[in-house]
Amino acid sequence: MVKMPARETASGLRAVARCDDLGVAPYSDSDDHLFRPYLGAGHAATLDRIAAWMTEAGMTARVDAAGNIVGRYEGRHPDAPALVIGSHVDSVRDGGRYDGMLGVMLGIETVAWFAERGRRFAFAIEVIGFGDEEGSRFPVSMLTTRAVAGVLGDQDLALVDAAGVGLAEALDGFGLDVTRFVDAAREREDVLAYVEAHIEQGPVLEAEGHALGVVSAIAAQYRFRAVVTGVAGHAGTMAMRLRHDALAAAAEMVLAVERIGGAGPEDLVATVGRMEVGPGVPNVVPGAVTFSIDIRAGVDGVRDRAAEAIQAVLPEIAARRGVGLELTLQQDLPATPCDSGLSALMADAVSAVTGAAPRVLVSGAGHDAMVMARLAPVSMVFLRCRGGISHNPAEAVEVEDVQVALEAMTAFVSRFEQTGAGAGAALTQEER
Ligand code: HGY
Ligand code: MN
Ligand code: MN
Repeated sequence: MVKMPARETASGLRAVARCDDLGVAPYSDSDDHLFRPYLGAGHAATLDRIAAWMTEAGMTARVDAAGNIVGRYEGRHPDAPALVIGSHVDSVRDGGRYDGMLGVMLGIETVAWFAERGRRFAFAIEVIGFGDEEGSRFPVSMLTTRAVAGVLGDQDLALVDAAGVGLAEALDGFGLDVTRFVDAAREREDVLAYVEAHIEQGPVLEAEGHALGVVSAIAAQYRFRAVVTGVAGHAGTMAMRLRHDALAAAAEMVLAVERIGGAGPEDLVATVGRMEVGPGVPNVVPGAVTFSIDIRAGVDGVRDRAAEAIQAVLPEIAARRGVGLELTLQQDLPATPCDSGLSALMADAVSAVTGAAPRVLVSGAGHDAMVMARLAPVSMVFLRCRGGISHNPAEAVEVEDVQVALEAMTAFVSRFEQTGAGAGAALTQEER
């Protein structure tokens, strides 16, 4: 925990201190670890706090129809299109304090830095804190990012969480209306570009001694749901040879997923992260198991071939064990390249503040930028994180690195203004 700086001016220290402030209840739904699911009490308390910080930084702040917090720092002309800086405010269960939130805090610090200097631009700057990126409450991820990008799926508004609470009910409890959810979508002409600062969540920058890195692309992701249906029975009387044990079958399937994920190139990964066992009591042979399968790779083809192998072997296991299997693709996020023009600006900004050529790398982790790329050109800057640890309360950053990231973000914005058109941004006519 770092102490809030005495000086109330833009700084990396203040960004880190604010992430620490938000890392505990009431900004978490749990008292003993950080869990900030979409539309929970922690999410609501967090938005109030962030809105105050946005206003303090010189922005107007609002909660959009999907529960995202949106701060706006006007340009020299009202209603100018915006450069959007964003990341997510939700967390995984027992997560770290900086995954997502640090990018939102750095967006606020970037605006505060310019506001303190009276700088205005031909464009507005907006900072968005997405309410759901992790998908740690509802079965799919990036729900509210997809609302902003205008790319919601047909089933999204009918989503139901593990407790049986539907999205409509959860929104209602948050003071929002599911019939207005689609109003969070932004017009393409209102967003010039999207920039996201995020911890690397991997070991490369630390291992090679870089404070920052520039992301060239974000890995492709599939998310499946597998439902295994066996026969529940008395653990004391059902002979082993007569069993159709759903959990034993699922266990063999999990090992098959691990084997296939490990048989590909280094960037191919496959994970079973969530499993529910029914009825889930010691003296009953499990009759039903539901589990998730997360498959990723730097390119779509590698991901797709691994998914095909998994979709072939799981039914074989099910047939041999006499259990049912329902395998459903819930999320398909193709590999997303970052915009080359914006990435060149970011690389120039990073090398200007670090004095070294930036490390360019592919992100194995998913980010809001991969969905915002459906709306506008995107760029990402990574910050070194201790041991590459993330999705873990041990997640940590160095304040000095966050200060360097703030300097890189402000340098990027200045470059974006100077060459806005060159970065794929169509500035308003009167600004040319
Ligand atoms: O799963 C991810 O890669 C991200 O943390 N949501
Ligand atoms: Mn994240
Ligand atoms: Mn995450």
